[in-house]
Amino acid sequence: MTSADIDWDVLHEAAVAVMEHAYAPYSRFKVGVAGLVDDGRVVVGCNVENAGYGVALCAECGMVSSLHATGGGRLVAVYCVDAEGGALMPCGRCRQLLWESGGASCLVMSPDGPMPMTAVLPLAFGPEDIDRITGGDRG
Ligand code: THU
Repeated sequence: MTSADIDWDVLHEAAVAVMEHAYAPYSRFKVGVAGLVDDGRVVVGCNVENAGYGVALCAECGMVSSLHATGGGRLVAVYCVDAEGGALMPCGRCRQLLWESGGASCLVMSPDGPMPMTAVLPLAFGPEDIDRITGGDRG
C-alpha cells in the first residue's frame, strides 16, 4: 500500500475527534491518534494522564490497545495530532509500539508528509531480533 492509497483526511478527522477526549490536566498537551488497520478498520487513542505524572498513557498506547481489543491486525498508516490538529511525531517509546504493530512498511504522517517507519525508527529493534536468538518460538 502506498501513501496515495490512504485516505489521510479520514485519519486526520478521527485523530482530531479523539484528541478532544484526551485527559491531560497536568501537561495540558492533548494528543489524538488514528491508525488504519490492514482490514480497513480505523482505531484511535488519546493520551490519559495521572497525578502520578510518570504513569501517563500516550495516545498511541490507547490506539494499540484498541487495535488488539477490536480484533488485531497490522497498522498500515498512522496520523497523530496535537491540540491544533497538526501532525505530531510519536515519542520514542511509541515509535517502538508502532514498530511492533505496523513494522517497517507502516506509514506515519509527519509535518513534512507521510514517512515510513524505517525513517521514523531507523535500525529498529524488533521481533526478528528475538527470533534470531530464540529460534522464533513466540508461543
Ligand atoms: N504524548 C502522547 O500521547 N504521544 C506522544 O507520542 C507524545 C506525548 C502525550 C504524553 C503526555 O500526556 C503529553 O503528551 C505531554 O508529553
